[in-house]
This record gives sequence, C-alpha cells and structure tokens, in this order.
Amino acid sequence: MTPTNPKRVLITGASRGIGQACACLFAKLGYSVVLVARNRKKLQEVLGELDGAGHELIACDLTSKLGQDFLVKEVLHKLPDLIIHCLGGRVSVGEGQDPWQDSLNLNFLSIVRMNEKFIPKLVERKVGTIVHLSSSAALNGQAFTPYACAKAALNRYVVDSGQVLLADNICLFAIMPPAVEGHGNYWAEIKKSDPNKYSKMVTGQKLGRPQTTDEVSEFIYSLVTSQRRILGGCLVSTDPTIY
Ligand SMILES: NC(=O)c1ccc[n+]([C@@H]2O[C@H](COP(=O)([O-])OP(=O)(O)OC[C@H]3O[C@@H](n4cnc5c(N)ncnc54)[C@H](OP(=O)(O)O)[C@@H]3O)[C@@H](O)[C@H]2O)c1
Repeated sequence: MTPTNPKRVLITGASRGIGQACACLFAKLGYSVVLVARNRKKLQEVLGELDGAGHELIACDLTSKLGQDFLVKEVLHKLPDLIIHCLGGRVSVGEGQDPWQDSLNLNFLSIVRMNEKFIPKLVERKVGTIVHLSSSAALNGQAFTPYACAKAALNRYVVDSGQVLLADNICLFAIMPPAVEGHGNYWAEIKKSDPNKYSKMVTGQKLGRPQTTDEVSEFIYSLVTSQRRILGGCLVSTDPTIY
C-alpha cells in the first residue's frame, strides 16, 4: 500500500518527555509533526526547537470529550498515517482526587476514544500505524497500582484490536519501557526534587540507569520504519525484569 502522508506524524503528549524526544527526532529526519498536549506555551517552545517546516501544534485536554472532539475536528481531514500516543503518566493523588478514574482516563480511555475516530479513516486508506506508550509496570506492577492497571488495560486493547486491524494493513502496537528520563519528564524532575527517590529507582534498573527519552524515541523510529506489520497487535518490552 502507498502511504498517503508518508512523512507526517501526529504525536500526543508532545510537550515533554518521550513525546518531545519523538517530535525532535522525527522533525530532524524530515517529518512534519503535529504536536498535541494541554500546555500551549510548552508546545510553542517545542515547536520552536524543531528542524524543518510544516509543523503545527494543537493544545487541548485529551481526557475531556471536548478536547478529543477538538483534536479530531482539527486533524481528521489530514490525518497522518503515523500516530504516536505518548499521552499518559501519573495523576495527582490527594483530597478530592480520584486516581483510579483519572489514571484510566489519561492512560487508557482517552486513547481508545481518539483511536475510535482515527482508525476508520486509516482503514479507508488501508494504511496506518499507531504506536502506544505503555509501561513495563503493566506486567511487573512496579508503579502506582491505578497507573499499572490502566497500562494493563491499554495492553489488552492493543493486542485485541491490533490483531483484528492487521487485515486492513493497520498496525497497532505498544512499547513497554521501564523508567525513562529526559526532556523535562517525571524522572528528570524527581532527579532534581527528590534525589533519594531517584537513587532508589536507579538501583532497580538492570541497565544501571533509566533509559533516556532519546533512546526510546530512536527505538520507536526504528520500529515504525521497519517491517512494521509483524508488530501488529504486539507488546514490545525494553525491560528485562518482566520476563
Ligand atoms: N517516564 C517513564 O519512566 C515512563 C516509563 C514507561 C512508560 N512511560 C509512558 O510514556 C509516556 C510518556 O512519558 P514521559 O514520562 O516521557 O512524559 P510525561 O512527563 O508523562 O508527559 C506526558 C505528556 O502527556 C501530556 N498530557 C498529560 N495529560 C494530558 C491531557 N489531559 N491532555 C493532553 N495531554 C496531556 C503532557 O503535556 P501537558 O501537561 O502539557 O498536557 C506531556 O506532554 C507516558 O504514556 C508514560 O506513561 C513513561
């Protein structure tokens, strides 16, 4: 099948961390990038750092129906064949918060809702790749339980939907890294604010350090530019502790 938008990528969760690293890498390699997250100012900063031209940003809250509908309205008519969902992460825990519901919304339901709109468009074209940032915590549980459960739900969704969609040449797969640090993400912040917690995390890493956001983005690039169909419905782990 001929890709319709061969050098264009939509990245959710692109204002920091793995999403930002992917945006930088793909732009450097000649892609035009659509960056999505809530923080417009941060997205503008990321956009300003990208090589090349034709990039755009969309600021919206993807856990809300309003935000999801806004994104769909903005991109559906020119949807890239490649989508990378870096959206996800930890939620606030405190009085009046509902970490179970919020974790599910952020790490699972928001992605399913967007894909429900995107996938029919990709099926029409008979080409498309959707990468999902899951976590090894989905399998080894070494994280906040609501987060781990939401990533486990994401895994199940990717495996079940990914197998069905292969018949239409649509490839859904998920990546499960252990701790990842860089581009202002959670562990980059914890390194500065809570060195003890950071050291404890490092001792649990088989690599002797967290993986970097640049390493993960390069790995994603290598997967989406390979014979990607063999990954349809698969979970790809970069954490040996789950085996
Ligand atoms: N870091 C790790 O150790 C690690 C390990 C395994 C898997 N992962 C997964 O990898 C992905 C990226 O993680 P990361 O640590 O690199 O980045 P991160 O710091 O968790 O950043 C998450 C991104 O999602 C955006 N976001 C959060 N809530 C949003 C919402 N309601 N609507 C729209 N965008 C929203 C954030 O931007 P705004 O705040 O501007 O909205 C940000 O760009 C996540 O799915 C995470 O669960 C991370």
